[in-house]
Amino acid sequence: MIGRLNHVAIAVKDIAAAAATYRDVLGAKVSQPLAQPDHGVTVVFIELPNTKIELLEPLGAASPIAKFLEKNPDGGMHHVCYEVADILSARDRLKAAGARVIGDGEPKTGAHGKPVLFLHPKDFNGVLVEIEQV
Ligand code: CO
Repeated sequence: MIGRLNHVAIAVKDIAAAAATYRDVLGAKVSQPLAQPDHGVTVVFIELPNTKIELLEPLGAASPIAKFLEKNPDGGMHHVCYEVADILSARDRLKAAGARVIGDGEPKTGAHGKPVLFLHPKDFNGVLVEIEQV
């Protein structure tokens, strides 16, 4: 059911420093920081030949990654995002298999303007999983 790895998201405390590491140490192509107040994050997109890395820095008081960074003060891998062709049929299949969908179960518009859902990390080996309809 799942398709390509769309991105790996990494939570960071200092997005300028993290972007500089990817650009200057790893030699990657990094975007300018983009504030996404609706999602409570500032994002830097890193284009790799086969996928993307997204650096996420908390934005605003109610950022969904603030608690994660309290537990992981050095930053860390926050989630992986897999592509699906049909998010509603993917959701129904996942729920039928016992996986927990976070929130009310209705797809939200994600950071790329496409429908996304998040799946509980306890059901996926401790990894928060995002599925995105492409
Ligand atoms: Co994501």
